[in-house]
Amino acid sequence: MNDNQMLLTPITLPGGLELKNRIWMAPMTRSRADNPANKPFGIHEKYYAQRASSGLIITEGSQISQEGVGYINTPGIYSDAQVEGWKGVTKAVHDKGGKIFIQLWHVGRISHPDFHNGNLPLAPSAINPNEKSFTPEGFKETVTPKEMTREEIKKTVQDFKNGGKNAMGAGFDGVEIHSSNGYLLHQFFNATSNTRRDEYGGSIENRAKILFEIIDALKEVMPEQKIGIRLNPSLHGVFGMTADENTIPTFEYIVEKLNSYDLAYLHLSEPFSDVSDIPYLVTEVAKHFRPLYKGTLVANGGFDQAKGNKIIEEGDADAVAYATLYIANPDLVERFESGAELAQPDKETYYTPGEKGYTDYPPMKKS
Ligand SMILES: Cc1cc2nc3c(=O)[nH]c(=O)nc-3n(C[C@H](O)[C@H](O)[C@H](O)COP(=O)(O)O)c2cc1C
Repeated sequence: MNDNQMLLTPITLPGGLELKNRIWMAPMTRSRADNPANKPFGIHEKYYAQRASSGLIITEGSQISQEGVGYINTPGIYSDAQVEGWKGVTKAVHDKGGKIFIQLWHVGRISHPDFHNGNLPLAPSAINPNEKSFTPEGFKETVTPKEMTREEIKKTVQDFKNGGKNAMGAGFDGVEIHSSNGYLLHQFFNATSNTRRDEYGGSIENRAKILFEIIDALKEVMPEQKIGIRLNPSLHGVFGMTADENTIPTFEYIVEKLNSYDLAYLHLSEPFSDVSDIPYLVTEVAKHFRPLYKGTLVANGGFDQAKGNKIIEEGDADAVAYATLYIANPDLVERFESGAELAQPDKETYYTPGEKGYTDYPPMKKS
């Protein structure tokens, strides 16, 4: 079963980070940081260490500032207490021979005033996504956010930089900028969430500007080879994101410009929903962008073992990131090696506190 599986072959990232396989763990919010400091602790160490056979773990989205938060019990990477908490996680993963990046996150307009003492969430423009926000009191309607001033944009860029600095201090192998899935940076890219008239709105170049400012700021505190970027170009109908004729050209511009850096990787998600009837979008994201990107490309979204091996064999990706499969299969790599059956996750415990549905999925039975 394990013969000739491309997923099981090693890969070295720019900068020399050696990964033992191409089965990566995709970022997944699990909402277990249920303490006032929103810091990771023992159960996070256990959860990530259980998954250390993955070629590269990308942690759950971790807010880079108090303004960036949008869900209950998600961990941060802006305070000393949080850095201390993450040190335990990186050590636990490294002790088991794993590698781990942290995903740097700001939700923008998907947040709610309940997280900000009644103040409005920040976004490129004052446009309500008309979605639900998961607040301490349960789901609530989102509000019309505050349009960010230039100073607030500058501060946010600095917050990402500080998140990167903290990530290095916490022992991470690198960071992934969360510029996908309808959150802050994606809100800048998309015309329906960004109607600004200054240098951050209007043209494709302007709407992409903040991402490159963040990469440049992060480069001051870490080598660019430790920075990964996540994009979801064909996202449609999620968090108020609506595609138009500029959507794919925007991502083509971004991906081509990323070639001027020597980044750790580009992480692309396949469409989260059927977009075959949306004329502006591409249905096969990795296939579309592979010819444009010169560096390491990791594909995500709806892959199983066979599809994962196939996309690497066909040259449309260098690695595959698995999310949902990692919830109930901490030893996904060993299962792919042996062809063992996969366990099914319990959706009820995706975001609930404690170890249930988090660290209590057993490894496969060895015959
Ligand atoms: C429980 C859960 C939490 C998620 N949290 C994040 C997150 O924090 N950051 C992110 O970029 N994507 C997040 N995602 C999206 C996944 O990384 C991935 O793109 C998606 O699940 C599709 O991959 P899959 O088919 O392998 O599950 C989450 C998905 C799930 C199921």
